[in-house]
Amino acid sequence: MTQAPRKIIIDTDPGQDDAVAILLALASPEDLEVLGICAVAGNVPLPLTERNARIICELAGRPDMAVFAGCAAPLQRNLVTAEHVHGKTGLDGPQLREPTMALQPTHAVDFIIETLRREAPGTVTLCPLGPLTNIATAFLRAPDIIGRVQQIVLMGGAYFEVGNITPAAEFNIYVDPEAADIVFKSGVDLVVLPLDVTHKALTTRPRIEAFRSLGTEPGRMVAEWTDFFERYDMAKYGHDGAPLHDPCVIAWLIRPDLFTGRRINVEIETQSDLTLGMTVADWWGVTDRPANALFIGDVEAEGFYALLTERIARL
Ligand code: BDR
Ligand code: CA
Repeated sequence: MTQAPRKIIIDTDPGQDDAVAILLALASPEDLEVLGICAVAGNVPLPLTERNARIICELAGRPDMAVFAGCAAPLQRNLVTAEHVHGKTGLDGPQLREPTMALQPTHAVDFIIETLRREAPGTVTLCPLGPLTNIATAFLRAPDIIGRVQQIVLMGGAYFEVGNITPAAEFNIYVDPEAADIVFKSGVDLVVLPLDVTHKALTTRPRIEAFRSLGTEPGRMVAEWTDFFERYDMAKYGHDGAPLHDPCVIAWLIRPDLFTGRRINVEIETQSDLTLGMTVADWWGVTDRPANALFIGDVEAEGFYALLTERIARL
């Protein structure tokens, strides 16, 4: 018997790699039912992330998808953005068309709360691809929903790779460490796709050309987005390609067999100026702190890119 597609809410700050993740999800209806897409401030400010989310839905041929705008700033801090990586729009690279589909009138946090209360307990998975502000705000405002979440599968943090926005912290966690702390302490079953794994999912020339040679608009856009996005990381790390971070979340949901990790304790640093936003991951089991996350460490990159190309080809 085939399983019903898994219900997910994507919470995102697009971002070129977020865009590829959303396309992968929308191209995979047999695996995933996307209930809605929530924008949050992160890579760029909220007016751009919600606009970008709508551009991506239209590119996927899904102007019917519900896109919600959420929190414009972290819980307690000023917003830190990443235009140095993603460009001024967040989706720099190809020429973009202004979206025509409407933004939903409901706030993303209300949508998350209402959806979790409406759907059967344990049937909705949250997929954060940006700072955790919307999710934490929903948990603070409606603690009754926490026990109804099936799983949170998120991109964020690092252990062996340590940090990308500071020497100690990964961007999504650093931007809103208090929100991350709430999520990591929530008791919800967490799957974490940190830099340790995304830095093994590197673009290469043949992988990008495979997208371009699909001969479709989504294929060309993905190639041009990755062309733009990889220049920063290639210069920084000296690799031949750049990590496609956020699609790892969606790929894990579709093909968990491509990934390996460990169930460990992960806590968030919220006090220290020097290591703010660090994901303190007990990979080696040196404490008796209870495991709260499946922390992914490796991916079979060829299989990951084959999945991406096969699914983007459908759009
Ligand atoms: C994360 O930060 C953003 O720049 C990317 O979209 C990804 O979600 C990687 O650290
Ligand atoms: Ca992101």
